[in-house]
Amino acid sequence: KEKSELKDFLHISDFDKATIMNILNRAAEVKALLKSGERTYLPFKGKTMAMIFAKPSMRTRVSFETGFSLLGGHAIYLGPDDIQMGKREETRDVARVLSRYNDIIMARVFAHQDILDLAKYSSVPVVNGLTDYNHPCQIMADALTMIEHIGQLEGTKVVYVGDGNNIVHSWLLLAAVIPFHFVCACPKGFEPDEKTVEKARQAGVSKIEITNDPKEAVRGADVVYSDVWASMGQKEEAAYRRQVFKGFQVDEALMKLAGPKAYFMHCLPAERGVEVTDGVIEAPNSIVFPQAENRMHAQNAIMLNLLGF
Ligand code: CP
Ligand code: NVA
Repeated sequence: KEKSELKDFLHISDFDKATIMNILNRAAEVKALLKSGERTYLPFKGKTMAMIFAKPSMRTRVSFETGFSLLGGHAIYLGPDDIQMGKREETRDVARVLSRYNDIIMARVFAHQDILDLAKYSSVPVVNGLTDYNHPCQIMADALTMIEHIGQLEGTKVVYVGDGNNIVHSWLLLAAVIPFHFVCACPKGFEPDEKTVEKARQAGVSKIEITNDPKEAVRGADVVYSDVWASMGQKEEAAYRRQVFKGFQVDEALMKLAGPKAYFMHCLPAERGVEVTDGVIEAPNSIVFPQAENRMHAQNAIMLNLLGF
């Protein structure tokens, strides 16, 4: 299959550069339309989406549900206690049953294999709303936000400071497709998955650096990016991680080292006073709320692509 005609949205690097850029351009177009108050573009009219959540969510749930409904469709929220995928029922059965009622499935799960299984057995498109491995919709929204604020994504320097987690893997997989400079500054032992780093490097598209020195890393950054130190499913490690991640807090001093052009971004939810100070998140160069808003617009464009519009 052409990379522009894939059934599912599971990893950014499944798609080629032209398709990713088309989706981002489409996101900007549909965003402008919705922001103008226009409510007559209803491509999802008569369509339904099942949204499976094995983990909590605010942005993902509300942006998918609102976005799908603003474009004419109806979304169904299935929380952690509802279908208990893999526990009450096997994932492959969930996939085949939901495919018979719905035009598209969005899922937030723990194990990445669960989203791969869902996609394998589903006859309708599956969109990854975060797994322990990656979070592609978030990084598409981030790319859109960078294009809006900086004018472009290509050639920029993005410095992520913190845990080498699912967010980092999606940044790396974006860097395998679009050329920019990506740096992950994390404590020793919390580096991103080696295979994913290798994949991004092998693609030969972007400059990729993994370092343990946030102060050196942020110099000249266009974006300094942070995420929680303990992700969903790791909350019992929070106290331990606070010790290990000392020195990786994005504070005013680190932003000063980054330089005057640096924007601050965070996928949210944020723990103020832990991975980022209140001052940094509230500063004029913090774009965390436009970033959160763009979840909806990026996802609308992803769903338009998958549903053939
Ligand atoms: N950024 C993000 O995915 O937020 P939620 O966990 O609230 O969906
Ligand atoms: N790394 C975080 C991202 C939340 C959007 C987590 O997985 O909890």
